[in-house]
Amino acid sequence: MESRNRWAAVAAMALATAAAGASAADARHDSARHDSTSIARGRYLVTISGCNDCHTPGGMEKGPAVPEAGWLTGLPVGFQGPWGTTYPSNLRLVLGSMTEAQWLHHARQERLPPMPWFNLRAMTDADLKAIYAFVRSLGPAGVATPAYVSPGGKVTTPYFVFVPRTDAQPLASR
Ligand code: HEC
Repeated sequence: MESRNRWAAVAAMALATAAAGASAADARHDSARHDSTSIARGRYLVTISGCNDCHTPGGMEKGPAVPEAGWLTGLPVGFQGPWGTTYPSNLRLVLGSMTEAQWLHHARQERLPPMPWFNLRAMTDADLKAIYAFVRSLGPAGVATPAYVSPGGKVTTPYFVFVPRTDAQPLASR
């Protein structure tokens, strides 16, 4: 009787262990599935919201022809306007150095033009987390972009000038 009880206890423990093992495996599977869904969604959001236009070398000129390995590595060419000269940051390094919570805060800060910071601010936590998962899945690459230069400061890199122009020549004299 005593030995039967002992065996029953051992069997119960074995079952419990098997169940715990199974649920840990399920949880791992769920989290892997969750990660890959999140990464895919992040890739989609980055693509449709135009982050590559500015943050990826060749993004504006070559569009989808730029291999993912080069995405979001930052532009060493400045954008100059009345705000000074800004550089689209290397997001692979910026996000790579942050926790997800830090990113949620960082992503919602006001930035200088032409960064559409208000678009990022309008994103849900889930969207920002997906972008975080995607960018981090690409891994760190490239170098940090040059520092911001205030208006009138010396710029040592190539830069685009954001100045609206009108053609002063009257049509008739062309
Ligand atoms: C029209 C060009 C442009 C587009 C499009 C753009 N950015 Fe930017 N982004 C910039 C510039 C320029 C800066 C630097 C702004 C500054 O110095 O304040 C910047 C800065 C940032 C920063 C701050 C990084 C740091 O150095 O801490 C983040 C984060 C960021 N962008 C994310 C994004 C994401 C995500 C997208 C797509 C949703 C995006 N940007 C689209 C131009 C752009």
